[in-house]
Amino acid sequence: MNINLLAVPIMYGCDRNGAQYGPKILREKDLVEVIKNQNHVVYDFGNLFIPSVPESEKYANHEHIKYLKPVAETNNNLAHLVYSSLCSESFPFVVGGDHSLGLGSISGASKHFENLAVIWIDAHGDINTPETSPTGNSHGMPLAAALGVGVPELTNVYYDGPKVKPENVYIIGARDLDEGEVKLAKDLNLNLYTMDTVRKMGISTVIEEVLNKIKSSNIDGVHLSFDIDALDKSLVPGTGTPVSNGFSFEEGKKLLEGFLSTGLIKSMDFVELNPILDNKDMTSNLCIELINYIFKTLR
Ligand code: ARG
Ligand code: MN
Ligand code: MN
Ligand code: MN
Repeated sequence: MNINLLAVPIMYGCDRNGAQYGPKILREKDLVEVIKNQNHVVYDFGNLFIPSVPESEKYANHEHIKYLKPVAETNNNLAHLVYSSLCSESFPFVVGGDHSLGLGSISGASKHFENLAVIWIDAHGDINTPETSPTGNSHGMPLAAALGVGVPELTNVYYDGPKVKPENVYIIGARDLDEGEVKLAKDLNLNLYTMDTVRKMGISTVIEEVLNKIKSSNIDGVHLSFDIDALDKSLVPGTGTPVSNGFSFEEGKKLLEGFLSTGLIKSMDFVELNPILDNKDMTSNLCIELINYIFKTLR
């Protein structure tokens, strides 16, 4: 397959130094070669330009959302790269950087596809709004914004209005949801498979159910957004918001393969690696292993 490597070294969405170095360390560990070795053609678009903003301007654009302007701008630029990649029949692989970039990816994909579905594998829901966010960090908001909920600067990225319908959103592995997120998921009737639900149903049944729902709903493209904090806290010291009771490495691979081997996934995010927080490269090495597996199973 033709893979467009879109690296987005952003940390404004998590407000934690280090997340911007995700692409750099993965490249040092032969990211491009790893993908090529799984028989893909890689077009490396380099790093997306991230405007630099001093910390003193954190709240310059909104009283609660940090760095709103550079986050919105970056997502706008990313959206067009994802859209262009899909138009040229390439697979956009978006490497973060923090998860605020998920908004740009979804926005680009939704412009290309008539009826897009989103699978969000994450310990978090990332469906906060400025009103419900406990932190003001926009990496906790991209999925809400893609659903059309939140400030106009985010909900109108790339083009005005919602990018995905609530019934086409699948959140898997969530175990750290804020109060407002639980309410929004309920109000919008999102397909929410919390970690508790996954444990009760079993991973294979969850995969099967999600795929069946997607196949029966006229979806012409699926975007898979993978936050490495979906994995258990003990496996990923190099991420900003680790949560216990997560997926094991084998479970993570099983989930990814379950979706990627179907031919339904047309674009993907890989986010939230923070090399500064890492413990002897444990997380970045694990990321490279996962990426190897992703491109081994992608159809
Ligand atoms: N729910 C928390 C917040 O809104 C944490 C979000 C973590 N998101 C992430 N992409 N790691 O700040
Ligand atoms: Mn559309
Ligand atoms: Mn997360
Ligand atoms: Mn996330």
